[in-house]
Amino acid sequence: VICTADEWGIRSHGVARLRFYCEMLIQKRINPVARPHIVKSRPSLVLVDGDNGLGMLVGSFSNAIAIERAKETGIGWVHVINSNHFGIAGYYAVQGLKDNLIGIAMTNTPPLVAPFGGIERRLGTNPISMAFPAYKEPPVVIDLATSAISLGAVENSDREDDEVPPCCLIDASGAPSTTPRDLLEGGSLLPLGGARATGGHKGYCLASMVDLMCGVFPGASWGPFVPPFINQAPILENKVGRGIGHVFGAISTGAFEDPLVVQSRVDEWIYTMRNTKVSEWAGEVLVPGDPERRAAEDNARNGLALEVNVAEDLRRLGQEFGLKLEI
Ligand SMILES: NC(=O)c1ccc[n+]([C@@H]2O[C@H](COP(=O)([O-])OP(=O)(O)OC[C@H]3O[C@@H](n4cnc5c(N)ncnc54)[C@H](O)[C@@H]3O)[C@@H](O)[C@H]2O)c1
Repeated sequence: VICTADEWGIRSHGVARLRFYCEMLIQKRINPVARPHIVKSRPSLVLVDGDNGLGMLVGSFSNAIAIERAKETGIGWVHVINSNHFGIAGYYAVQGLKDNLIGIAMTNTPPLVAPFGGIERRLGTNPISMAFPAYKEPPVVIDLATSAISLGAVENSDREDDEVPPCCLIDASGAPSTTPRDLLEGGSLLPLGGARATGGHKGYCLASMVDLMCGVFPGASWGPFVPPFINQAPILENKVGRGIGHVFGAISTGAFEDPLVVQSRVDEWIYTMRNTKVSEWAGEVLVPGDPERRAAEDNARNGLALEVNVAEDLRRLGQEFGLKLEI
């Protein structure tokens, strides 16, 4: 999953994070011998307990169930409790494309985002992904955090001594800020949209939707009680719910008619989006998934350059585990 993130150009979720997962495993904050299992099962609706396992392992296990049920019944919908950080949501949503399935993945995440109008962290960056198979065109892959900016982007700006755009974060006192340090020192991200005029309240609604579906409904932790990633904060004593929650969905494009007919309509949709007058600043109209696919093509052609500090960290990590990194 983390290699796919790098391949798609989502460096913030790539191998740079391998150390954090290893540390969580070593400290047994993640169960290294987890056995994710089904606890409730209806024909197309399933509840999985992740046994506090690695989010990627639990996610792949649960997403495969959604895919299998969708092939049998037309739709598969899996709620997951007691899991951990699963990486990029898009990885899971694209897994059913080859079987003519629309894929859905979402997760709640540790608190970093203030609810609209609030000045304290109450929600995660709670990403949602949906992938639609096309016929002749590449698939449409939507994969977004529901915060105005991702934590990874703020960390990148901090490393580069840069500012973040306005309306993305507030400092610990609630004052608007463009200084990345203000987030890292107790501030909050704003929900997608940022201000009222630009729909910040709707970003709050989207993040709430993910948290209610992933945490509150199935019984995982939710809101400020979602367990933190290792570099963020200690584990909360007053545990509410069980671990991080995810949702995986898969819907057969052949549920109502020939899947190729549906997928040809997705092609038409893509052509219609692209074939439009373009503003000067944009230069072109993209379809969701284009930037990541272009990055993947470019990386496949030219190789993937790791930042020096990431390569050094991987080398050190390898040494700690008696592995040699051949780069
Ligand atoms: N597991 C976690 O805790 C967690 C939390 C937050 C985010 N994430 C992941 O971080 C990643 C990055 O999230 P993000 O919100 O920063 O993504 P982003 O802003 O880079 O992209 C969001 C979406 O917009 C599309 N897009 C980008 N430019 C476009 C354009 N010009 N026209 C049309 N579509 C365009 C992309 O294809 C993508 O689907 C995602 O993979 C997400 O799943 C994970």
